[in-house]
Amino acid sequence: MKINDFNFAGQKAIVRVDFNVPLDENGNVTDDTRIRGALPTLHKVLTDGGSLIMMSHMGKPKGKVKPELSLSQIVKNVSEALGVPVKFAKDAANAEAEVAALKPGEALLLENLRFYAEEEGKPIGVEKGTPEYEVAKKEMKVRQADFAKKLASYADVYVNDAFGTAHRKHASTAVIADYFDAEHKMLGFLMEKEVTAIDNVLKNAEHPFTAIIGGSKVSSKLGVIKNLLDKVDNLIIGGGMGYTFVKAQGGKIGHSLHEDDLMPEALNVIAAAKEKGVKLLLSEASICAQEFSNDAERKEFPINQIPDDWQGMDADPKTLEGWKKVILESKTILWNGPVGVFEFDNFAHGTEEIAKYVAEATQKNGAFSLVGGGDSVAAVNKFGLGDKVSYVSTGGGAMLEAIEGKVLPGVAAIGK
Ligand code: 3PG
Repeated sequence: MKINDFNFAGQKAIVRVDFNVPLDENGNVTDDTRIRGALPTLHKVLTDGGSLIMMSHMGKPKGKVKPELSLSQIVKNVSEALGVPVKFAKDAANAEAEVAALKPGEALLLENLRFYAEEEGKPIGVEKGTPEYEVAKKEMKVRQADFAKKLASYADVYVNDAFGTAHRKHASTAVIADYFDAEHKMLGFLMEKEVTAIDNVLKNAEHPFTAIIGGSKVSSKLGVIKNLLDKVDNLIIGGGMGYTFVKAQGGKIGHSLHEDDLMPEALNVIAAAKEKGVKLLLSEASICAQEFSNDAERKEFPINQIPDDWQGMDADPKTLEGWKKVILESKTILWNGPVGVFEFDNFAHGTEEIAKYVAEATQKNGAFSLVGGGDSVAAVNKFGLGDKVSYVSTGGGAMLEAIEGKVLPGVAAIGK
C-alpha cells in the first residue's frame, strides 16, 4: 500500500519513527532533524482523522531500562513539532489502556523499544558461539515475535518511516509487518523519499557520476566503495581513510590515521578502479599538524612525504582545485564523509569547500546530489548548505548499507 492512497480516518496507526536524536547532558534535543523528517507522515495520519501511535528506539540500552535514554525526554519536542499534545506510554509492551483511550486526531509516543531485549531479538548475557547461545537465540526469536505481535495489536495499520533504522531486522522495523496484510502496511513519506533518492544515484544516475567518500576508516566504507566502482565515473577518496591508500602505495604518512590491515584492500580498490575505467582521485598533499588540536600549527606536506611527527588533518588547496573541477562537471553526486577534521574550525576548510562545490553543482548545473552519513550531514548543516543540495539523508548506517547494494530489512518487510 502507498501511504498517499490510504485514508487513516477512524484508524489507529502505529508508526515506527527514528527518534534516535542527540541529547545534551540535560536531556535536551540538540538536533531535531529526524523528528522534523517524520512530520509529513505523522501529519497525514492526524489530518486524515486517524489516531497516531509513535514508536522508536533511542541509543543502545540493550534490554535494560536506562532513564537517560527515555523517550519521555523528547515528548515536548515531538508535541511542538507536531502541533498537538503527545501522550506518553511508559511501558511499550503494556500500553493497551493508553492505546484504547486514544481518539482520532490524538497522538501517543511509546517508551524506548530497546528497553526490551525482544526489540533487537539478540540473546543477552550468553556467550556467542556456545551451544547455550544457539538455544537462547531460538528462544529469543519466539519472544521477539510475541513482542512484535503485541505492538501490532495496538493498531489497524503499520507505517514504517524509520529510515535511520531500516538496516535493522528488529521487532518494530521488520517482524511486526508479518501481522498486517498488504493493504495495512506501508512505508512513510520519509522512507519513500530516502529510497527514491538512493535509487536516483544507484539505479537511475545521470553521468558523469561522482562519489566523494571521506571519513576516518576504510573498513567501514569498503563495501560502499566496491559497489560504487561498478557505477561511478569518478571516485574521490578523502579524509582519514585516504592515508591507508597512500601508505599501501609506499608513501610516508607520519602518524596520520590509517588501517594497516586494510592496505591490501586499498590496493585492490586502486587496481579495480583502473580496470573498470573509474577515475580515482586521491589527495596530492595534506594540511598537517603535530597534535590533534584546533590550535595546532598547520603545515602542508606532499601526501606521501609527511614527516613522522606530523599527521594529516585537512585537504590541501591544490587537491581541492582538482576535486572541484570534477564535482562541477558531474550530473550525479553522492557525498559521504568529511575530508578533514571539520569539527575543528581550523581544519574544516576542505570539508566546507566540498559542501560548496556540491551545492554549486546542484544549484547551477542541475546535478542530483545526495548527502548522507552523520558527519557529512552535520557538515552541510554547519556550513548552512543543507537546503542547497538535492537530498540530505537521515540515515547513517542505513544509508551506507543501501549504497553497498544491500536490501534493507525495513523496506523489504513492507514489500511492494
Ligand atoms: C542511527 O542513529 O544510525 C539509527 O538510529 C540506528 O541506530 P543503531 O545503530 O543503534 O541501530
